[in-house]
Amino acid sequence: MTPVTATVRPAEAADLPKVLALWDDARSEAASIPDTEDALQTLTAHTPDALLVAELDGDVVGAVIAAWDGWRGNIYRLAVKRECRRLGIGLQLVNAGERHLSEKGVRRVTALVVTEELGAAALWKAAGYEQDSAVVRFVRNL
Ligand SMILES: CC(C)(COP(=O)(O)OP(=O)(O)OC[C@H]1O[C@@H](n2cnc3c(N)ncnc32)[C@H](O)[C@@H]1OP(=O)(O)O)[C@@H](O)C(=O)NCCC(=O)NCCS
Repeated sequence: MTPVTATVRPAEAADLPKVLALWDDARSEAASIPDTEDALQTLTAHTPDALLVAELDGDVVGAVIAAWDGWRGNIYRLAVKRECRRLGIGLQLVNAGERHLSEKGVRRVTALVVTEELGAAALWKAAGYEQDSAVVRFVRNL
């Protein structure tokens, strides 16, 4: 399909329900913590440009979290509306997230990708990321 150019910008309060609806539809079976408006308000209060949305014709069609923890960059919850996929919007969100992180001094970025989600892995490879087979993730919910 012909790529489109979305407007990628930091999310505003009015975008949060749309982002949650988008994530609900794209939610991975591996996700273990519910996504809530409270959590997004906490995120945007902490770092106003961490949650980015892609807007097309006035509609929020994609979102991503690009977060700097003071040491490294982490990208979470990349999702694009089903009817807008394969138009280049996922890559535009990743590129914008990287720009924001780079401006803060980030030199290395991690993206968590579920092994079975082959489309997601293909997107990260297309964005220039390599799978790090030397590292496994240890996790615990608090
Ligand atoms: C993964 C996702 C964000 C990709 O968004 P997108 O806007 O469709 O991606 P893009 O159009 O920017 O794709 C860029 C390139 O990535 C690769 N790619 C993206 N999706 C792909 C898929 N489903 N299968 C194979 N390759 C894919 C292709 O190389 C593509 O370029 P091409 O279309 O010219 O072949 C989207 O499919 C999505 O929201 N999926 C559900 C949630 C999810 O899995 N998120 C990722 C969490 S890590």
